[in-house]
Amino acid sequence: MTVALKSGRSARNPREVSIKDFPRDASVESQLKFLVNYAVLAPSVHNTQPWLFRVLDHTIEIYANRSRALAVVDPDDRSLIISCGSCVHLFTRVLNAFRMEHKCSVFPDMADPDLMARITVTSSPKGDPDEALVQAIVRRSTIRRGFQSLPLPEAFIDWFTKGNDERPDFIRTVMEKESEFLILRQLQETERNYQSDKRYRRETESWTHPLRERSQDGIPMNPDEPTTMVSCWSVDNAPDHATMLAVLTEPADTPRAWLETGEHLIQVLLEASRMGLNAAIMNLPSTSTDIRSMIKPLIGFSGDPILLLRFGRPRRKLITPRRSTVDVMLHPGFRH
Ligand SMILES: Cc1cc2nc3c(=O)[nH]c(=O)nc-3n(C[C@H](O)[C@H](O)[C@H](O)COP(=O)(O)O)c2cc1C
Repeated sequence: MTVALKSGRSARNPREVSIKDFPRDASVESQLKFLVNYAVLAPSVHNTQPWLFRVLDHTIEIYANRSRALAVVDPDDRSLIISCGSCVHLFTRVLNAFRMEHKCSVFPDMADPDLMARITVTSSPKGDPDEALVQAIVRRSTIRRGFQSLPLPEAFIDWFTKGNDERPDFIRTVMEKESEFLILRQLQETERNYQSDKRYRRETESWTHPLRERSQDGIPMNPDEPTTMVSCWSVDNAPDHATMLAVLTEPADTPRAWLETGEHLIQVLLEASRMGLNAAIMNLPSTSTDIRSMIKPLIGFSGDPILLLRFGRPRRKLITPRRSTVDVMLHPGFRH
């Protein structure tokens, strides 16, 4: 059950959050409530925002909100938990950005599979916020309306392709055009098959239409504009050197591994955002064994392909809404 908190500051639209409103002299509890505004900017499948927060003193708990699950496309809650993983990791990055030391434990309570993480702040803010990181968090968004034809920055390509220590091993780029072509073609075919399933269509359409102003969730796409599948994932819609296809893999098929995948997802998206790039995201590999098994040999890697990312610069941004923090806050006195 959710209970609205009477806190004027946290009731604002998270899209309007600003560093200058950080309540520096308030209690850690108030600061954590304020920082929820940044954590909810995490990506989530269909912008379902499947998370809830409970703040008590120096501790914040992040719960999965399974009432926002997608029964057709995500029957096991894998994408839901990946989304929560992004939110958990984003919260820790926000605390880093505001120079608040903390400890984070994931799945801290074996008796409660909905409790994704418990984060305890161990110091008050030390120094000025890391504005570049905060900007990278605020500017990140999913590309939905195609790519600009500008070349990608060398530094970004190097980060992925050179074998340096910083490069994460959970993501692999698809550099050969032939492989990229095969993957994109398979995506289109799988999506066409899914579209013939009425339950899939209904569920997707219920989260993807322009009238999202009241609910502040879902994706406000206009039915007259090309779908993301057409503008971002077709074979011929991105000029050479303007995009880079990458595959995010997961180490195992367990809720803990899904949570970790979500952490990895936001990590690479923030790295891209720091360099002025964004990504289109595609979860068909997580639902289709056909796609998974065709991608695996192409990337020559042991993990299971789970999400595809196509990095670039958006031709036009689509800003998705976020629910007010009062709607995602659990009262400390209530059991989840
Ligand atoms: C697990 C997961 C799966 C996603 N799958 C897709 C997808 O298949 N297609 C797509 O266009 N966007 C996908 N997204 C992106 C979300 O739609 C997007 O994060 C959400 O609408 C919020 O928008 P924003 O990322 O611009 O803030 C996915 C995001 C997550 C976390």
